[in-house]
Amino acid sequence: MATEQALDPSLPCCRYLLSALLAMEPSECLISHARACGGGSITEQVQQFILDHCLSTPGDFYAPYLKNFLKKLIAQVECDHGCVLDQFYELYAQYITSIKDDSLGKRDSRICKRISFLFPDGCSELQTCPHSRVLTFPLQCSINMLEGDTGCSIWPSSLFLSELILSHPELFSNKLCFEIGSGVGLVGLCLAHVKASKVILSDGDLSTLANMKFNLELNNLNVETGIQRNEDTGSVKCLFLPWESASETQLQDIMPDVVLGADVIYDPVCLPHLVRLLVILLNRKNMDSSCKGLSPNSKHENGEHYRKGATDRSDGIYKSVSNGWNGQPKEAPVAYIACVIRNIETFNYFLSLGDKANLNMEDLTDSLKPMNLLLYMQSYKQADIKLLRITSN
Ligand SMILES: C[S@@+](CC[C@H](N)C(=O)[O-])C[C@H]1O[C@@H](n2cnc3c(N)ncnc32)[C@H](O)[C@@H]1O
Repeated sequence: MATEQALDPSLPCCRYLLSALLAMEPSECLISHARACGGGSITEQVQQFILDHCLSTPGDFYAPYLKNFLKKLIAQVECDHGCVLDQFYELYAQYITSIKDDSLGKRDSRICKRISFLFPDGCSELQTCPHSRVLTFPLQCSINMLEGDTGCSIWPSSLFLSELILSHPELFSNKLCFEIGSGVGLVGLCLAHVKASKVILSDGDLSTLANMKFNLELNNLNVETGIQRNEDTGSVKCLFLPWESASETQLQDIMPDVVLGADVIYDPVCLPHLVRLLVILLNRKNMDSSCKGLSPNSKHENGEHYRKGATDRSDGIYKSVSNGWNGQPKEAPVAYIACVIRNIETFNYFLSLGDKANLNMEDLTDSLKPMNLLLYMQSYKQADIKLLRITSN
């Protein structure tokens, strides 16, 4: 039998298949990518690609997930009357045994997903990852999204904000970026990647915070001191910050240029607290008065984000009102909040609270679109996400 030529791993369909497996997309998604690689069927050539490039280190995967994928793949090839490579049967047999053994012991409820952002040819992002066109972040998550610790799962809006950050780095680079309800920390990793001057992540759940710190370390960011571990990464701080109990002073001390929030609009009980938080974080006047009171021992060790200067509303919009550390005018702080609208009443409640609090909420869903860097993820659709830009009126 003539040997078929090996598949080129740089083909988009091959990159999608590999990325989907690393991100632990559902088996149906992997099967669909595998079919695309083989022009409609999972040929021996595709199977060989999977063995050589996707499963070369099967120990890296969560065993029950891989077992399920192998089972579906074998069933699909058999169903198509194709020929299953022997190695697949062998690997599947190994997993059946190992998982039986495993189930007797204690199961770890955390898994490692690897989220890859795939950049198109000629993208300026190539300057930061010139060789691969792929940026991959390993992230520890909980197995089950509904296990209770919602912050240990990757929610679609954080994928969206990550795409936004990587597509429009100019909105975040050299800025102090502060995220609320940061969950696993993916947005923070992207902010550090585009060189935000400082990244502060926060969450009100302690186990989520511990998991977030773990993920930052996993991606070579130093969390404890906020000092860079190597030159390519920014400093990242993690704060325990429940919206209900965050004090005004604590919030004023942060003085962000950009506030971010992904999938944080879902619990009506929390929304008044969330809006209070935004009002304080986005209010320039608050910040200016708090700056006056900053002691030399203030949290901003290097004085980098100390703002002073008068507000200017001559044209009806706050802009360039304060001076940054280098004397350059600083723009008024802005929040980018991304969300999936699961309950329109909750979303409208958030809008009405924002309106009452004199926040300016602009819907950017149609005007600020990120690149599609996660096309391989069939479980995530950019179109499901709403993007708000919020400023203080
Ligand atoms: C749906 S998850 C989204 C996590 C992450 N932003 C993402 O998109 O993947 C909501 C996050 O907000 C945090 N959160 C919810 N209510 C909060 C509150 N009242 N104070 C602080 N954090 C809160 C949760 O702990 C969780 O990490």
